[in-house]
Amino acid sequence: MRVLIDESAVRQGVERLAREIISDYEPRPLTILGVMTGSLVLLADLIRQLDLQIRVGVIQASSYRGGTVRGELVIDDRWMPEIEGHEVLLVDDIFDTGHTLDKIVKRIRVRQPKSIRSAVLLTKLGRSEVQIKPDYSVFEIPDEFVVGYGLDYQDEYRHLPHIAVLEAADLA
Ligand code: IMP
Ligand code: MG
Repeated sequence: MRVLIDESAVRQGVERLAREIISDYEPRPLTILGVMTGSLVLLADLIRQLDLQIRVGVIQASSYRGGTVRGELVIDDRWMPEIEGHEVLLVDDIFDTGHTLDKIVKRIRVRQPKSIRSAVLLTKLGRSEVQIKPDYSVFEIPDEFVVGYGLDYQDEYRHLPHIAVLEAADLA
């Protein structure tokens, strides 16, 4: 494995993101919706820096059937808070093809939030297959499979404090 974004660069990136969100929303209340499970670490770090009136909830999306190849995308919004009339910010780990965020945005729009925006830590360059783009993106990365800071390979490596590229030899 090769470190792509080290721990201190990740921390500084998340601090920048928090400052941008605060300056855009303050003093309006905000509902943060973390896309599980990949946003787990970003969500925890980000919300503690948001000096705003926030509510926090989660929505589950899973598309990988154990590996690096996509399976069917399943979204579970049963435990999501009420968002009608609220300003919503979706938080996810990475924008790759964009299908996950696109589908989640469509799903939650039906619940009539006052606004919906999205924030991701990473955007993979040249991969998007959808019309939307994340409103906030901290780092752009090349088209490689990455793990750490919430991102997994078969649910492993989520706990790494940095972002690393998984190389062919790591793919068991
Ligand atoms: P998208 O729907 O193609 O944009 O993919 C988004 C989801 O796929 C993310 O929320 C991640 O969970 C997962 N994903 C995409 N690329 C990677 C990667 O390089 N490593 C780990 N997970 C990834
Ligand atoms: Mg994900």
